[in-house]
Amino acid sequence: MTEHNFFESAYACLIEKDLDRKISLVDQLQQGWEKGIYNFNPTQMIYRVSDAGRPALPELVPPKSLPKRRLGTPEGHAALIHSIAHIEFNAINLALDALYRFQTLPKAYYQDWLRVATEESYHFQMIREHLYHLGYEYGDFKAHNGLWVTTFETDHDPIVRMALVPRTLEARGLDVTPPMIKKLRAIGDKRGVEILKILLNDEIGHVEVGTRWFRYLCKEAGLNPFKEFVNIIESYFHGDLRGPFNFEARQEAGFSEEEIHWLKSIESGQ
Ligand SMILES: [Fe+2]
Ligand SMILES: [Fe+2]
Repeated sequence: MTEHNFFESAYACLIEKDLDRKISLVDQLQQGWEKGIYNFNPTQMIYRVSDAGRPALPELVPPKSLPKRRLGTPEGHAALIHSIAHIEFNAINLALDALYRFQTLPKAYYQDWLRVATEESYHFQMIREHLYHLGYEYGDFKAHNGLWVTTFETDHDPIVRMALVPRTLEARGLDVTPPMIKKLRAIGDKRGVEILKILLNDEIGHVEVGTRWFRYLCKEAGLNPFKEFVNIIESYFHGDLRGPFNFEARQEAGFSEEEIHWLKSIESGQ
């Protein structure tokens, strides 16, 4: 029954460009896992993926050349929902890459990241549907590729990946989602509020997965997780680590007292 290789299947899903086919491959991966059809033999090669599978649109542009739109217009509202759809679409690829790339971890790691991939796919489908009701489709606005670039740049080491992708980029989502919920509530977008609440709740779980495996890998390597986290942020992170931070959600996602204290000092020094 275990004739299918899990890593090859995750790779096929990662490089799939077609939206609907990618979504159905994520479902198949989850179903295959539940049926126990996979073996976990490492693949002969682990390919670097400079560009994960994504459709021809949205057009990718540098973050600075994205037009700033006001939420008060229907187009501005749709642009915000589109940017969330883009994040969720990228998040599917982020989770798939975490599954494919690091092939010698305990099985529980793959179970966790497969759950994340499945939830990201569900997030994407919900937000894409909402965008559709606003009269737009995913791909109608421009977007940037920052999430994938960081993923690609951290493909050499799962410790760096866990620190920067779930614990920095996805964790940023915990900070910015509550103010976004307020904005959507203010313009009467009830469905948008509902979706973002689901996303926020699930994303706490994704950051927690990142935290748990970050700590596991630090322990294996005999590293101090706090020092290692700070060190990785300082040496790899291009953006500013900026508050305000959602300390409550970050605590729920497993940030330690020491890390929270460090983030508080960054926030108060801003
Ligand atoms: Fe998500
Ligand atoms: Fe996520």
